Amino acid sequence: KTAIIIDTDPGQDDAVAILTALGSAQLEVVGISVVAGNVPLELTAKNARIICEWADRPEVPVYAGCERPLLRPLVTAEHVHGKTGLDGVPLHEPAMPLQPEHAVDFIIRTLREREAGSVTLCMLGPLTNLAMAIVRAPDIVGRIREIVLMGGAYFEGGNITPSAEFNIYVDPDAAATVLACGAAITMLPLDVTHKATASPARIGLLRALPNRAGNLAADIMTTLERFDVQRYGANGAPLHDPTVIAYVLQPGLFSGRKVYVAVEQNSELTLGATPVDWWGVTGKTANVNYLTTVDSDGFFRLLADNLSTLP
Ligand code: BDR
Ligand code: CA
Repeated sequence: KTAIIIDTDPGQDDAVAILTALGSAQLEVVGISVVAGNVPLELTAKNARIICEWADRPEVPVYAGCERPLLRPLVTAEHVHGKTGLDGVPLHEPAMPLQPEHAVDFIIRTLREREAGSVTLCMLGPLTNLAMAIVRAPDIVGRIREIVLMGGAYFEGGNITPSAEFNIYVDPDAAATVLACGAAITMLPLDVTHKATASPARIGLLRALPNRAGNLAADIMTTLERFDVQRYGANGAPLHDPTVIAYVLQPGLFSGRKVYVAVEQNSELTLGATPVDWWGVTGKTANVNYLTTVDSDGFFRLLADNLSTLP
């Protein structure tokens, strides 16, 4: 089994990603760390526990992390995910507790306790918690197996400003820290997630599953699709965060290039942009495996297979 930590700001597509990971027999979800992002921390901490309970997995520990980005005020995305962060599905008050330990301490402790090179970090939101962990405990960097993160945009343009993708834009300083840390990093930017679209036919695949998780995922994607259909057209909305879990499970679904990527931290106009040195013009050593293509039918089949094992 691959041990993973999921760091997340649920978030509708985060929810589908978490369910997929919990459904996979190949993954050990060591814990879920939450961060402020799509909605404030109090809601992401609640939503993560609701999602674990949907999967009948109340024993998965959920840790609350940073309430705001390193240097800037929080920017949220209720216009996409609704006021609750999970609009479109019925929500309950979770019975499982939030862990007393801070998410940053959990990340540091886990990487130190576990065998070096055995834990993969699945990053589905702003990178604040991981940047904090790296600054507090630089020794953890050499112990990370891989950082797989949803974030960034280059060829496609941005989704929160013309040049920036949401997760990087919310905490560009954290993103810069993570991209420069020296660990193996795979990045799933909008350039690839915009090819993983939840078309009505693909949503139908999940709707046809006989269990609750399949229907929840279908309901969530229908909400996404409604929001984004004017923007992205008849193919439906992109399903961003689940690509991270799919990559960990089946990297062969994706392709890209090892490149040098940096983050804009200063310009007001292009804050959070992630210029990609696609043609190697800087001569700088590649720091990122930057993915640009996905077998999107294979990706949806993988989601359906893993979701089908849940209640
Ligand atoms: C990212 O932003 C969030 O709204 C989504 O959950 C995803 O992580 C896409 O830009
Ligand atoms: Ca997210």
